[in-house]
Amino acid sequence: MVMHRTRLLLTALGAFALGACSGAEPPSGAAGAAGELGARLYEGSCVACHQADGHGIAGVYPSLSGSPVVLGDPAPLTRWVLEGRRPVDLPAGRYGTRMPAFGWLKPPDAAALFTYLRSHFGNAGTPVDSTAVARALGDS
Ligand code: HEC
Repeated sequence: MVMHRTRLLLTALGAFALGACSGAEPPSGAAGAAGELGARLYEGSCVACHQADGHGIAGVYPSLSGSPVVLGDPAPLTRWVLEGRRPVDLPAGRYGTRMPAFGWLKPPDAAALFTYLRSHFGNAGTPVDSTAVARALGDS
């Protein structure tokens, strides 16, 4: 009986620790679990084209350093990266290749990734939260 209760308690603690680690919102700055998630997503999905230093390859892949898309309103950034919808004020054909859409990124993942982009590569932008990402999806 005592053992049983102890096991229950441990299970509850484990669930609590997991919940705390998955953190719904990125912390300000790029510290903590969300910062690591952002880095992991960048390395897994973006680094091949935009490169480890975020500067891309001139004429082939744009630099994410100082990019107004990265640093601006999270809505157009979300629509482009997740839905492949280009910001209206950016002309097509600047680059010979196209970027795939990353529609599988869930809002908390995208928020962590965007926060990472905005706080690395020489960028010093504000964090993005998952609510802003969720709101931008499916918008016109
Ligand atoms: C296969 C190569 C490739 C991959 C992988 C890729 N991108 Fe891109 N990305 C591009 C290209 C090419 C453009 C420019 C597209 C255009 O202008 O039509 C671009 C443009 C962008 C822009 C706009 C930058 C600007 O200022 O014009 C952002 C932001 C961006 N990518 C973020 C990301 C993120 C975040 C990831 C990972 C989830 C990613 N990209 C993965 C090729 C890639």
